[in-house]
Amino acid sequence: MQRCEALARHSELPGGLTRVFLSPENRAANELVIGWMREAGMEAKLDAIGNVAGRYEGNRPGLPCLMLGSHLDTVRNAGKYDGMLGVVSAIECVAALSSRKARLPFALEVIGFGDEEGVRFGTTMLGSRAVAGGLDPAVLKTKDAKGASIEQALREFGLQPEQIPAITRKRGEVLAYAELHIEQGPVLEAEGLPVGVVTAINGFSRLRVTLSGMAGHAGTVPMGLRRDALAAAAECVLAVERIGRSEPELVATVGKIEALPGAINVIPGDVMFTIDIRAPKDSLRNDAVMTAESEVRKISEKRKIRCDIEHLQSLGVAACAPRLIAQLERAVGAKGIRVRRLPSGAGHDGMALKDLADICMLFVRCKDGISHNPAESITAADAGAGAAVLLEFIEKFQP
Ligand code: GLV
Ligand code: MN
Ligand code: MN
Repeated sequence: MQRCEALARHSELPGGLTRVFLSPENRAANELVIGWMREAGMEAKLDAIGNVAGRYEGNRPGLPCLMLGSHLDTVRNAGKYDGMLGVVSAIECVAALSSRKARLPFALEVIGFGDEEGVRFGTTMLGSRAVAGGLDPAVLKTKDAKGASIEQALREFGLQPEQIPAITRKRGEVLAYAELHIEQGPVLEAEGLPVGVVTAINGFSRLRVTLSGMAGHAGTVPMGLRRDALAAAAECVLAVERIGRSEPELVATVGKIEALPGAINVIPGDVMFTIDIRAPKDSLRNDAVMTAESEVRKISEKRKIRCDIEHLQSLGVAACAPRLIAQLERAVGAKGIRVRRLPSGAGHDGMALKDLADICMLFVRCKDGISHNPAESITAADAGAGAAVLLEFIEKFQP
């Protein structure tokens, strides 16, 4: 809990927590985590995409690893536990093993992924995609709001993007990936349970829509002659909400919108907004994306607005491996906790890592299901229960 507090102090937002990929705050957090990893008996360094990567050798050097971890970046005005709890708990487990000089028949690696949230560049899981080999080099041209590309940002951070292929792991080097994360939902709290075992991570699709109308004088252009891009966007936002409500398992969100030129007396000529659609079934999500696109186009056409839709990123449903679910369940049971399985509505690095190795996740209860919000909160007792289950899982892990 103290370490989550310490990480939360590295923030660009005074009085709150915002820490985006490759920022000065990110650098400071990385340094803290590298120090904790070394204290816990690991070798630790920053890799070429900006992940903090630590390794604790098994009973002989060079063995394949059980990979643990989570992310160190945050959303804007974030909570202190989303991502960080998983990194800190994994380090704690290694520290427990190393304090009694225990070596396992496999190595342990802990990764603090540099970018999971995708806040800065709009494309998520850069760190885990680089490790899993799913990062198309063309993605490095993606720019942030100030026009800096990922490639430039990596160089300014002192990293060498051409080294990224060298951090991609081979199948077989990684026996499995296990991540502890706060639930970010209300299920465990409602059931009175400190932890739960994840069955699968819902898939997501992210789009960026640009609407171009005609800027004009707010006083002189009659209503019937306007091509107001923001009024069109307002209709689109409600259409996206309707799509999200059309199926119980579907969610759809417009999380970001910008209107230009942005003055009280000017009709907005240009608007950009994002769409995030998620579902536990890929077919349901793909259908919803198609419906959203066609609704946005229809609304634009009716209002004589030019519309450009860009597909930013899609990741399919990531199922946790049944054999790992079973091992996590045994670890939960061994700590005297009733086993509860649940799906993940949020995205996680496992979605990228599943292409490298089987994945599993352990959720820790959070208060009122609140996350992506400064009110995100967990208890020390639940964090302790989560770490104890993770350690039990690690010690009994069967590749
Ligand atoms: C990551 O937190 C996401 O699910 O957007
Ligand atoms: Mn998050
Ligand atoms: Mn997260």
